[in-house]
Amino acid sequence: MPSRRFIVVVGSVNLDIVASVANLPVAGETVTGASLSRFPGGKGANQALAAKRLGANVALVARVGNDANADEAIALLLAGDVDLSACERDASAPTGVALITVSSCGENQIVVAPGANRELHANMIVLPEADAMICQLEVPVETLCHAVESFSGFISVNLAPALDVPDTLISCANLVVVNETEAEFYGRKLEVCTGLLATTFGAEGAVLTKAGVEVARSKPAVIVAVDTTGAGDTFTAALTLGIIEGMELQHALDFACAAGAIAATRAGAQPSLPYRQEVDAMLNWKYGG
Ligand code: RIB
Repeated sequence: MPSRRFIVVVGSVNLDIVASVANLPVAGETVTGASLSRFPGGKGANQALAAKRLGANVALVARVGNDANADEAIALLLAGDVDLSACERDASAPTGVALITVSSCGENQIVVAPGANRELHANMIVLPEADAMICQLEVPVETLCHAVESFSGFISVNLAPALDVPDTLISCANLVVVNETEAEFYGRKLEVCTGLLATTFGAEGAVLTKAGVEVARSKPAVIVAVDTTGAGDTFTAALTLGIIEGMELQHALDFACAAGAIAATRAGAQPSLPYRQEVDAMLNWKYGG
């Protein structure tokens, strides 16, 4: 493995409360027979822990409540040795909570109550010097705009969940990551992206483009999806790390798709995040040991 890169993640921390059911309900429907679990989650925290497990040193800039949910939400980050010195406790807002329903084929529906994530304001954050910064949209967009304008390393922006953002957040990024639903939501707005644009298609893999031209395409090995929660976060972290480690773009995309696929084979957001050896093992057939 190359020498460890340093990644700073600016983003959310949530406690995920997950109901596993046979089929997702449609609007107005009640489904019963679910089993309930609690997992550490939040896109920022997931991406931070994913990058760490894949071989980076990672610091997370975030905000949680001063409550018991926070202890549960940061437990795996602490165990995984993610630097949480810039993850502060808010005196008045609760820790973010995500209510997640997962079906037996691994699809999910997510509703987030952001709580303290909403209180991560621009004047509170001090970014360390790092090789890369990753951000997503579960903390205030103004904070992220400030972060991308003041950071000098490689910038990855995962435009999830889909919401209206100023062009600068897209144009400042060296890498933008969207899934197919988000790609549809942003549409022509993505044309301001001057860096790489990765679009994911679930089990069909992902495509990497630059200025509208395809530069890589990858489809992971077929897996049995148990829970896709956190798979996109894993993909974002892995692609960022692969690029800043100097992998060829095709290799980096294969690495990210393999990492995301492994995450989808296991339950929960953070418990499912793969370690480097697992991803390397999945890719060995293509790139050798
Ligand atoms: O991307 C998955 C994450 O989205 C979950 O962990 C949940 O907390 C929501 O933020």
